[in-house]
Amino acid sequence: MCGIVGYIGKRNAAPILMDGLEKLSYRGYDSAGIAVIGAGDRITVRKAKGRLENLAALLAASPAEGCVGIGHTRWATHGEPSDLNAHPHTDVKGGIAVVHNGIIENHEALRRFLTAEGAVFVSQTDTEVIAHLLKHLYRGDMKEALLRAIAMLEGSYALGVVCDAEPGVLYCARNDSPLVVGFRDGEGFIASDIPALLSHTRDVLFLEDKEIARLDLGGVSVYDAYGTPSHHELFHVDWDIDSAEKGGYAHYMLKEIHEQPEALQKTFAPRRPQTPGVYEWLPLSPEEARRLRKISIVACGTAYHAGVIGKYAIERLARLPVEAEIASEYRYRDPIIGEEELFIAVSQSGETADTLAALREAKRRGARVMAVCNVVGSTIAREVGEVGTLYTYAGPEIAVASTKAYMTQVEMMVMLAIALGELRGTLPRQEADRMLRELAQLPAKAHQALESEPLLQRFAAGASQKKHVFFVGRGLDYALSMEAALKLKEVSYIFSEAYAAGELKHGPIALLQPGRLVVATITQPALLEKTISNLREVTARGATVVAVCRESLVEKVEGSVEQIIPIPDADDLLAPLLAVIPLQLFAYCMAVSRGCDVDKPRNLAKSVTVE
Ligand code: M6R
Repeated sequence: MCGIVGYIGKRNAAPILMDGLEKLSYRGYDSAGIAVIGAGDRITVRKAKGRLENLAALLAASPAEGCVGIGHTRWATHGEPSDLNAHPHTDVKGGIAVVHNGIIENHEALRRFLTAEGAVFVSQTDTEVIAHLLKHLYRGDMKEALLRAIAMLEGSYALGVVCDAEPGVLYCARNDSPLVVGFRDGEGFIASDIPALLSHTRDVLFLEDKEIARLDLGGVSVYDAYGTPSHHELFHVDWDIDSAEKGGYAHYMLKEIHEQPEALQKTFAPRRPQTPGVYEWLPLSPEEARRLRKISIVACGTAYHAGVIGKYAIERLARLPVEAEIASEYRYRDPIIGEEELFIAVSQSGETADTLAALREAKRRGARVMAVCNVVGSTIAREVGEVGTLYTYAGPEIAVASTKAYMTQVEMMVMLAIALGELRGTLPRQEADRMLRELAQLPAKAHQALESEPLLQRFAAGASQKKHVFFVGRGLDYALSMEAALKLKEVSYIFSEAYAAGELKHGPIALLQPGRLVVATITQPALLEKTISNLREVTARGATVVAVCRESLVEKVEGSVEQIIPIPDADDLLAPLLAVIPLQLFAYCMAVSRGCDVDKPRNLAKSVTVE
């Protein structure tokens, strides 16, 4: 999704803006641009379709100099990726420049109104209306114009604004799209996400919806939608910039796959009960846990797949009905939810628009809400509140393809299932203790699972030209297959689908023929025989089967598949956490073999802040 940055200070803004945009490039983009207020208080705009290198080349050929500026990486929503549609956008005379992340839903009505007022539009974007609207409303104070504009804008936005009539001021505003503000030693910064600010300051503030901020050399002032000053505590970022950089790995995705043992440890350690049976981190009393009638886990993409594993785990251990649902469906389907039901939003970024909207809908209907979230201070975390947010401590995840966040989301789901099971009396203490001991051993086993990388590299080298890959499994292994298929398709662009192994014969088996590749996941002993029968049906059609298989089951699987990728043994509910590692590495190695842009797959964005 789009990324915005802004700078005000005494240094030349362009390199600082470009550095910030580079740090946000993981969000996905197809064009980029900056606007800088320079000599004579004139705004200079430079923008270019494609990679940031194109913008850098343009700036090298025709520099933009000045100490106040805004920058943007655009992920096209309204209008094709092009130089013209790239941000910043300006009013007709070029005296006001705007960058925007989000979608203005009433842009057509505003466009008609502003055109009638004399505005001339040059782009197809919804954003351009904001520049013209600000010009229309400007009466000598951009703060006032912004407040009036915000009252007229419908939709989501994080905005950065500069204006030649106030050359020493940088403005920003937000509604439903993330925006972080930082200030240090006479320099102010704005950005869509923390990594863009970290080399300048660790103390940041998060704007709330419909707030605006005014930054000048003296500091930052924040106002609510009525123009009343609002106070914000500074949030201190305690993770390091290094953790947001590649650290010697070829790609962020590979680095993040390798960080999983540590992420597992960090997420589990603070939640390991000091006193057996006491789960201090769970924001539910034993009585409340017993009274629960249903849980809805709602999320998108990979986070949804973690939610599906959560469904299996909670139903199994806490004997409570759980629905796992895609947020974009949930929010519009008139869900039945109310008191004595728990709604859990799962989101790495904490900014996913559909998940946020589903959360708000559940709150509106009176459900108790919780979140499993990786980004401290994100919108979802703030809307749920400190107590209800179960943070995963995966650290910053930069690659678009989620790996370590998924790992910790699933771990969090299993911990939740254990805690609920014990509190509800459906999981005996001894069994809970055994599972907790197994969870403690998981990081070491994850290290072992990472050793499959050379095997997968070799395999991918031979398989990378496949056009289709099917992933199959039963039970938890089916849930895992869904994640494996998503991972492969998003980074390698190979058509991949997941099927419950028992469902193959109801249609998908028609697609199987010699040359097709089927990746089976086998971690559930109770389903082993059934899965093997399904795989025989596959091999009988000439397709090749590769199995990611728990060590203790290898012997029984041998002979039924072409190749086995073993993973260490673990409890049935934890084995998927190990099996996902070779599946992630498989997707990664296939993408590398095919020469794909692994960390920034085409058309995708890290944080999907629009509907
Ligand atoms: O930040 P979130 O966890 O809410 O993001 C949800 C999905 O957009 C995300 O998991 C997406 O599917 C990833 N690209 C998958 O790797």
